[in-house]
Amino acid sequence: MVTRQLPKPAELLELMQFKKPELNGRKRRLDAALTIYDLRSIAKRRTPKAAFDYTDGAAEGELSLARARQAFEDVEFHPSILRPAERVDMSTEILGGPSALPFGIAPTGFTRLMQTEGESAGAAAAGAAGIPFTLSTLGTTSIEDVRKANPNGRNWFQLYVMRDREVSYALTRRAAEAGFDTLQFTVDTPVAGARLRDKRNGFSIPPQLTLGTIINAIPRPWWWYDFLTTPKLEFASLSTTGGTVGELLNAAMDPTISYDDLDVIREIWPGKIVVKGVQNVEDSKRLIDAGVDGIILSNHGGRQLDRAPIPFRLLPEVVREVGKDATVMVDTGIMNGADIVASIALGAKFTLIGRAYLYGLMAGGREGVDRTIAILRTEIERTMQLLGVASLAELEPKHVTQLTRLMPLAGAPADAVGGGAPRVRAVSDSPVRGAKASGDAEAAASRPAKPAAPRAKASAKS
Ligand SMILES: Cc1cc2nc3c(=O)[nH]c(=O)nc-3n(C[C@H](O)[C@H](O)[C@H](O)COP(=O)(O)O)c2cc1C
Repeated sequence: MVTRQLPKPAELLELMQFKKPELNGRKRRLDAALTIYDLRSIAKRRTPKAAFDYTDGAAEGELSLARARQAFEDVEFHPSILRPAERVDMSTEILGGPSALPFGIAPTGFTRLMQTEGESAGAAAAGAAGIPFTLSTLGTTSIEDVRKANPNGRNWFQLYVMRDREVSYALTRRAAEAGFDTLQFTVDTPVAGARLRDKRNGFSIPPQLTLGTIINAIPRPWWWYDFLTTPKLEFASLSTTGGTVGELLNAAMDPTISYDDLDVIREIWPGKIVVKGVQNVEDSKRLIDAGVDGIILSNHGGRQLDRAPIPFRLLPEVVREVGKDATVMVDTGIMNGADIVASIALGAKFTLIGRAYLYGLMAGGREGVDRTIAILRTEIERTMQLLGVASLAELEPKHVTQLTRLMPLAGAPADAVGGGAPRVRAVSDSPVRGAKASGDAEAAASRPAKPAAPRAKASAKS
């Protein structure tokens, strides 16, 4: 029997603790974003389609990217209990210097296209957070201006070796003079990947106005206001004649680059040098044996070869083969701090974020990048606490396994495959987070289809 009473005004007042409304629209938007996928949704609303798709998209069927994200979603963590982790130390040493967090900002080309503050926002936010920032050869802010935006923090430079070698060498020298401490030599771009979204959108550099872009601009006035009232959007370090990104890349890049180029660059570059875009054990070993300071397992965020190896999945074997002291880093597909924790547990010394940073930038400029870093920081910290580890050094392979999702192959009776074991194929049944959060059919379309048939799940060591 429930005893009822008249509500007391004082109790009602206690319930009505209305928060003061946040009048700053950017802050309100960003505070409401709890995940990187939330930032992606805001970014999509605020950025013209061609610019958003240039960032969000990948090559061909976008399978490399979808699989990389799926591999992270398929991580199963194994916590230890009753281990105090009230405070966690997320800092690390990487390439001869400190980083407050186990990730840095990856190089991205044409960044002011996404939001006018571009690389300066990324560099300043990275500096404030105590993590490294990487400027791309195809950046839209000069080497010197990035230094100005991040005068006391760590700046890294990403190098494409171009047909005109002298252009690349001159940039290398400039970055060294400006105090950049690490060079990332990208090797996965002998030719441009097929970015089909760019083709379909008729996206070119410099951007062209068409009827479609004008209609698309109507709900995005602030982006256009920024675009039209700030310095011209162009490559800061290269002169180009215009075209699609693919055409520009193909004109500039040299498909004949080789280990000889690595030797030449090492002579010019006084700092640390790492090779970005490594995708197998053999190349990893050869590079570490050749004395590079580190390698980045990466498939360029799925923007080059489609159906490429998943960098995260390569980690355990590469680390085993090159030795746990070698500097192996990883990128592609990181959308959550837990992805970073899993990478460190499997032996990565460091990770890089590309789109996660750009979604923040598009959602809210400098403050948006701050928000990206804050979200990832919170996720890393919480995941480590829940795993019962107090420092990155305590993370071990035993903390991570990878779900393998299995279902019988349609039309393949178990006894037809010998040994009685059912023939199976990997499928995905985890929710498509991006699509769920944003109701985004396009993100869902780039993921493997959800099977209708019942299936069995198994968990296997990665
Ligand atoms: C819009 C965009 C531009 C990029 N431009 C470059 C580049 O100029 N040089 C390079 O080495 N990698 C470039 N990348 C690849 C990133 O450095 C990084 O490898 C990739 O974004 C990691 O995957 P993620 O986006 O899933 O984090 C670019 C990535 C994106 C999304």
